[in-house]
Amino acid sequence: MSITDAITASAESVTEYILAQEEKDQLRFLTCGSVDDGKSTLIGRLLYDTKLIFEDQLAALEKDSRRHGTVGEEIDLALLVDGLEAEREQGITIDVAYRFFSTDKRKFIVADTPGHEQYTRNMATGASTADLAVLLVDARNGLMVQTRRHAFIASLLGIRHVVLAINKIDLVDYSQARFDEIRAEFEAFASGFDFETLEAIPMSARYGDNVTVRSDKMGWYKGPTLLEHLETVKIGGHELHQPFRFPVQWVNRPNLDFRGYSGTIADGTVAVGDELVVAASGKTSRVERILTPVGEAARAGAGEAVTITLEDEIDISRGDLLASSGARPDVADQMAAHLIWMNDAPLFPGRPYLLKIGTRTVTATVTEIKHKINVNTFEHVAGKQLDLNEIAFCNLSLSQPVAFDPYEANRTTGSFILIDRLTNATVGAGMIWFALRRATNIHWQAMHVDKQARATALGQRPAVLWFTGLSGSGKSTIASIVERKLHLEGRHTYTLDGDNVRHGLNRDLGFTDADRVENIRRVGEVARLFVDAGLITLVSFISPFRAERQLARDLMGEGDFIEIFVDTPIEECKNRDPKGLYAKAEAGEIKNFTGIDSPYEAPETPELRLVNVGRDPETVADEVIEFLRANNYLVAPATSIDGQDI
Ligand code: ADX
Repeated sequence: MSITDAITASAESVTEYILAQEEKDQLRFLTCGSVDDGKSTLIGRLLYDTKLIFEDQLAALEKDSRRHGTVGEEIDLALLVDGLEAEREQGITIDVAYRFFSTDKRKFIVADTPGHEQYTRNMATGASTADLAVLLVDARNGLMVQTRRHAFIASLLGIRHVVLAINKIDLVDYSQARFDEIRAEFEAFASGFDFETLEAIPMSARYGDNVTVRSDKMGWYKGPTLLEHLETVKIGGHELHQPFRFPVQWVNRPNLDFRGYSGTIADGTVAVGDELVVAASGKTSRVERILTPVGEAARAGAGEAVTITLEDEIDISRGDLLASSGARPDVADQMAAHLIWMNDAPLFPGRPYLLKIGTRTVTATVTEIKHKINVNTFEHVAGKQLDLNEIAFCNLSLSQPVAFDPYEANRTTGSFILIDRLTNATVGAGMIWFALRRATNIHWQAMHVDKQARATALGQRPAVLWFTGLSGSGKSTIASIVERKLHLEGRHTYTLDGDNVRHGLNRDLGFTDADRVENIRRVGEVARLFVDAGLITLVSFISPFRAERQLARDLMGEGDFIEIFVDTPIEECKNRDPKGLYAKAEAGEIKNFTGIDSPYEAPETPELRLVNVGRDPETVADEVIEFLRANNYLVAPATSIDGQDI
């Protein structure tokens, strides 16, 4: 019985129907394919044939079909699914949409994911909870790069069941030869994937052949229809035996007598009396109470939103992971993971991003792209950056340790997303393979003589003066005058200059975006050491990207980083052209030149902005000195009376 029938039935049978529904098992699947492969038509066909379209929707559909009319006078099923007006106008699907339908045997949740090349992001979103993927192929075109990419992502995301829907078979005269050819090609391609089932089905979603009703035009095909397969394919129920995992969303403390930890159970089950461990600290306690939105419970399981109280007061905060003490997750700040990059702007190793895993967010950088993966051939390809839709195996380094499970063991606690720190957009999705232990036996050595002690001995307050601006803007000229003035006052200084450092430490780096990121990362680290040494450190680098200037800032202590924007209009820099580089860049002799064919992201809120046109450099340098004096950078720190802190 379908819902439509149920609604017209008596109230009693509705109750029965709902109970029956609850007992049915459920299959989550997603459909993916290239634009025009017929995904929306296929889902529309499933909904239509399982009678889930109500009368008023049907009337609207008939009207819309006439208006948009891609299939003449017939009903265009794709219109049912492509709910967004924008999609209809563009003819592409642009967001993940979940649809629900059911038959006597099963309930289904289908994620309709867009096929447009740039929407891999949505594919990954829809796939992360799916049991099965329906990959659509247009029988005329065969396998596309997109099909391979989607199959690969599905496999990476842990989907173990795949249907290769060879659609539009009517347009190749229901040819068995064509079907066999595509199926064989896909099976060869996917043989390395860990798929438990792979069912190829010839179909015409438009006419309904082999979707829910067996086609009478393909006597040669003996397999199931799509719906038969979806109703019967066996999906492992491994969730039941997963260890308990509970990322703490917030600490609920309405008064001093109550302290509960709220969140959604990511995996496994929990019962009153169970011993739990806080993954990061290793502290343990027993479950005292489990509170759910409908009252207190003795146990709760994956997917439920609960508040848990413990017998002991232990230190737990938002972002912590509570777990069964008998099956503890990993805790590490370095890890190897597969990364799917979903952003127009590339990923660069060394650039900081926010990494969100469960309810925890930390800063992270990719320290190394081990290899990128060619989705057609699975060849491992070397690369210095990751572009939109690319997939790579990477090493990551996090600002703090996080708790996780390998993705293979747990799709929830083993996955993370990367977020751009400036735009807040989700830019990558990751699947963790294992923790890297390499660096765990290296500890920051606590020195007896620390930054404060050195600063005191030198009688000054150390800081970084970070000069940024276009080539030829006058950074080095001003920095050099400032250093001279500080030196005359008896200050201890050092200058790191782009041209100079590029002769030594950074001689291996050029001017690609990836190399510039690494250039600034290294200089930021070196500047940090110089500040630690107690010096007033002047840094003069174009440093064109906000993200890396922020990275350098984050390395220093509060107030130790002074960003100085040498703001000279590019026309003026070109006129000056002290090294003749602009002339060469404009003649195309130098590539990736800042301001010509490589961007400069001006600081938005620098500590100091220097207008450096039509003014004497000495006067401009004085402005820096005045800033330092006004903000107490040029006073000696109080010397300790008995020298105890040295
Ligand atoms: S940064 O962008 O990575 O910060 P950096 O300050 O180290 O650049 O080096 C810039 C200097 O390198 C310029 O002052 C110029 O002398 C030289 N140079 C050579 N090629 C380029 C280029 N393509 N873009 C900018 N500067 C270049």
